[in-house]
Amino acid sequence: MKKNALCSVVFAAAACGLALLSTSSRSSAQPAPASQPAPEVAEILTPKAAPAPRINGAKVFGVRPNHPFLFTIAATGDRPMTFSATGLPAGLALDANTGRITGALAQEGEFKVTLSAKNSLGTAKSKFKIICGPTIGLTPAMGWNSWNCFADAVTAQHVIDAADAMVKSGLINHGWTYINIDDFWEVNPRRTNDPSLQGPERDAGGKIVPNPRFPDMKGLAEYVHGLGLKIGLYSSPGPLTCGGCVASYQHEDQDAQSYGEWGFDYLKYDWCSYNSVAAASLPPPTNAAPGAPRRRPQIDLATRQKPYAVMRAALDKVPRDILFSFCQYGDANVWEWGAQIGGNSWRTTGDITDTWASLSRIGFSQAGHEKYAGPGHFNDPDMMIVGRVGWGPRLHPTRLTPNEQYTHVSLWCLLSAPLLIGCDMTAMDDFTLSLLSNDEVLAVDQDSLGRQAARLSQTNNLEVWAKDLEDGSMAVGLFNRNTNAQEVIAKWSDLGLKGRATVRDLWRQKDIGKFKDEFHATVPRHGVVLVKITGATASKP
Ligand code: GLA
Repeated sequence: MKKNALCSVVFAAAACGLALLSTSSRSSAQPAPASQPAPEVAEILTPKAAPAPRINGAKVFGVRPNHPFLFTIAATGDRPMTFSATGLPAGLALDANTGRITGALAQEGEFKVTLSAKNSLGTAKSKFKIICGPTIGLTPAMGWNSWNCFADAVTAQHVIDAADAMVKSGLINHGWTYINIDDFWEVNPRRTNDPSLQGPERDAGGKIVPNPRFPDMKGLAEYVHGLGLKIGLYSSPGPLTCGGCVASYQHEDQDAQSYGEWGFDYLKYDWCSYNSVAAASLPPPTNAAPGAPRRRPQIDLATRQKPYAVMRAALDKVPRDILFSFCQYGDANVWEWGAQIGGNSWRTTGDITDTWASLSRIGFSQAGHEKYAGPGHFNDPDMMIVGRVGWGPRLHPTRLTPNEQYTHVSLWCLLSAPLLIGCDMTAMDDFTLSLLSNDEVLAVDQDSLGRQAARLSQTNNLEVWAKDLEDGSMAVGLFNRNTNAQEVIAKWSDLGLKGRATVRDLWRQKDIGKFKDEFHATVPRHGVVLVKITGATASKP
């Protein structure tokens, strides 16, 4: 057994000159944990992007016939850069300066394209497949959502700032695409003391009217598209959203049409007040006694599925591709039927928050869901909690330690989860940016096979998760959920592999060496070592 040279991510505070996320940087509103572990240095593992061109992001893209097409080639490297493509089907055109492919495809079909990005240092080429057919969202969505930072304080300016930051930070060059408005773009009939949430809920014809913070939804969508990005919004199938704003109940077709007319590309649809609609459809409990505690109605599966099927049908009438994200917290094992009802993703759990308890409970409870994920339909363990978060209006640096943040990003990528940045992107430090811009790590999430990692071993809070990748290799996460550094072993027999294989550290983007039978590493507390194993043969047919 060869001892590997991987060093742990945890260093003594003074070990290097990188930014230190010490406990003193916590918001005063956040109580410190009872027993304080030694502070961790936020060591940046992601190498700086090379000046020569490199094409990143999804290698497969789905679109429906005759719907507007927008795909921005994500590429790092010095600018100016020019883009070209061979094999683009009729109906699509590439802007050589921006790398944006636009147009529409009239016919279903698969098109093999080669993308090129060229600068003064060279040319990068990358194979890309466009599949025109019924399925969109072939790889998990990558973008930003307003909830984990601005929550009920979100405004159109926040959305504009987020889109600008996606470009200025360079994240767009790593495949990040969606800018999603969560709850509170609608009028809120409960918040009568807040004029920015008041106004007509719908016009005389029943069409939804956004609140005064969002005076021009079409203009906002155009602005975001003008940057080569896409835009999303949020609603609920009940009369009100979770935050008490106007939602889509009995206006599903009209709302879907509005989203399409405004030019939106993504809908998160949050169950919430549909509870009251569902309960009203059920017979009253026979044993209800006056003064007895209210019992949650037992909602049957058909009733749980119905509002999502109704909005699915409404979206299908819109001449635009709108990713459909179910949010109902994993009720009734949504992973078992989300794809059948037409979800591109479905939340599998309740809301995440920026603590290890929340992250680890949600992330590591995804085991077993892997058989339900695939291109066009993914499990969603909720949005990301790195960077400055806070659920508005006051933000604080994430309470996750640096190693916990590495665990978060690594696990979400292994899970093929939608990656929705939850922080204020105008205030990202270098460490946060490095977590979100490691192309080899993000490639695990965006892999064209769309497989979700399975947990292959679990002993003493040490876990090995692995997923197959399109190139025949395997991405493997060695996780340590303990509070001290420990050795984690990935055995070829657990991974279904045999023979000698090259092991590459994906965060450092460096080969570690060749290993036979197993690979092991010392993994810091709450940390991960994420590797790619190439060249082994499958031990099982
Ligand atoms: C629910 C969802 C969150 C967010 C809020 C908005 O809690 O799970 O992700 O959308 O509603 O009110």
